[in-house]
Amino acid sequence: MTQSPVFNFHPLTAPKKGNAVLLIGKDLELGSIGRTLDEASDGAVGRAIKAADFKGELNKTLVLLAPSGSELDRIILLGIGDDELSETDWLHLGGAAMAAVKGFEKASLILDLAKGDVSAASASLFTMGMKLRAYDFDKYKTEKGKKPEEKPALSAVIQVAEYEAAQEAWQRDAVVSDGTLLARDLVNEPANVLGPEEFAAKAKALEELGAEVEILEQAELEAQDMWALLGVAQGSVRGPRVAVIKWNGGKEGDAPIAFIGKGVVFDTGGISIKPAGGMEDMKGDMGGAAAVTGLMHALVARKAKVNVIGAIGLVENMPDGNAQRPGDIVTSKSGQTIEVINTDAEGRLVLADVLTYIKETYEPRFMIDLATLTGAVLVALGNQNAGIFSNSDEMCAQLSSAGEATGETVWRLPLSKEYDKMIDSTFADMKNTGGRWAGSITAAQFLKRFVGETDWVHIDVAGTAMGSPKNEINQSWASGYGVRLLDRLVADNYEA
Ligand code: BES
Ligand code: MN
Ligand code: ZN
Repeated sequence: MTQSPVFNFHPLTAPKKGNAVLLIGKDLELGSIGRTLDEASDGAVGRAIKAADFKGELNKTLVLLAPSGSELDRIILLGIGDDELSETDWLHLGGAAMAAVKGFEKASLILDLAKGDVSAASASLFTMGMKLRAYDFDKYKTEKGKKPEEKPALSAVIQVAEYEAAQEAWQRDAVVSDGTLLARDLVNEPANVLGPEEFAAKAKALEELGAEVEILEQAELEAQDMWALLGVAQGSVRGPRVAVIKWNGGKEGDAPIAFIGKGVVFDTGGISIKPAGGMEDMKGDMGGAAAVTGLMHALVARKAKVNVIGAIGLVENMPDGNAQRPGDIVTSKSGQTIEVINTDAEGRLVLADVLTYIKETYEPRFMIDLATLTGAVLVALGNQNAGIFSNSDEMCAQLSSAGEATGETVWRLPLSKEYDKMIDSTFADMKNTGGRWAGSITAAQFLKRFVGETDWVHIDVAGTAMGSPKNEINQSWASGYGVRLLDRLVADNYEA
């Protein structure tokens, strides 16, 4: 795999060797280090700006090779535009910087501005942007093929006035980055390698960080009456798992908060089989479970002051002589019966039983589920926003602000009795599809029948977990969406 850069934080000094990245706004004023380098090079930096007609626009770069007056290989100017920089701007600037120094051994990132110091928090976000941008899922590119030559990891020196505080902020943000990259790895991994058992082992590995992890296998799931989940799994030769990751960083006796993820390691659709075109993307149908695992990594590694449960339902949805059929009626753990109209609406069947299990076993303060649940959410919101559905206005507000802050944005869609009616069944308590229209909403109405009075949010990440357009902080098919969003939700609202 491409090696992650090594980051160190130093005070501001004029770098002598390697590559220097300097920030510059639309006013084209350099910070003090930039001015020093410009003077040493007899004004080459200023001349280059003019010659290239460089405007200092946000995330745009200008490269000067072998500038005179120093032994530097390059001076790279990185535009910051002219607006106040938001948190996501700093993150994306780091990404743009990483793109400019990719493949080099050494880079000094000089975080000073003509108009003043850069805060420690901004420096840490910039570093996170670099780390997220550097990610490349290239483990299956063999040496003889297209794999880029193995280079030593980039040694990146982040220079900033408050370098000690920045280093401290980075201790926290680094593990949130790790959680995001873990989620990307899990989504990118093909289903032949990552089945339910292998995914459960990845969850189990969080014990090394200090979490407690329980894995429920077939017999235990049967004993728990999770027949909706088991019905989905029965067409696969690979048995289901439910992994429950627990972290008690809060007060003893405080009700935990709970995150629940859809982990369909591959979704063929089952007997209601999907068309062949693009079906390979369904290796990512565990994006919700990947986000929960990455989030738990982050929360445990940073010793978050909260009691939290991460639960993931891991199954494979296959057509087979033993697979469930359209028309089958299953009894969920809650006791409610479900007529399976379409075996491709499997995620809600898995989540129904995991939601019930977590609600009954842990009586959580709230439950948030993440799931690549419907193609319809892509029709509604594209890759730009996840759809949220909830019985709590307060939690929606909290999620919206966490989304704005992190750039992992959400958009609320409605629930109502009228939509709920659409999943009433002739033969059972409910059916697993609600017809052609409002597909994301009827899926959410289905889940709502399993949460009772508990505060709950469903996040449909079908458009955001995978296949997202490339951007400054992600060049990979899998985005790791949800980890930074929910880490922020917890930090801002639920930590002591
Ligand atoms: N995993 C799919 C949803 C999906 C689609 C995720 C595209 C990511 C990208 C889900 O299990 C599914 O098949 N949903 C059906 C529901 C329908 C049968 C009611 C859908 O969206 O078509
Ligand atoms: Mn499906
Ligand atoms: Zn699915």
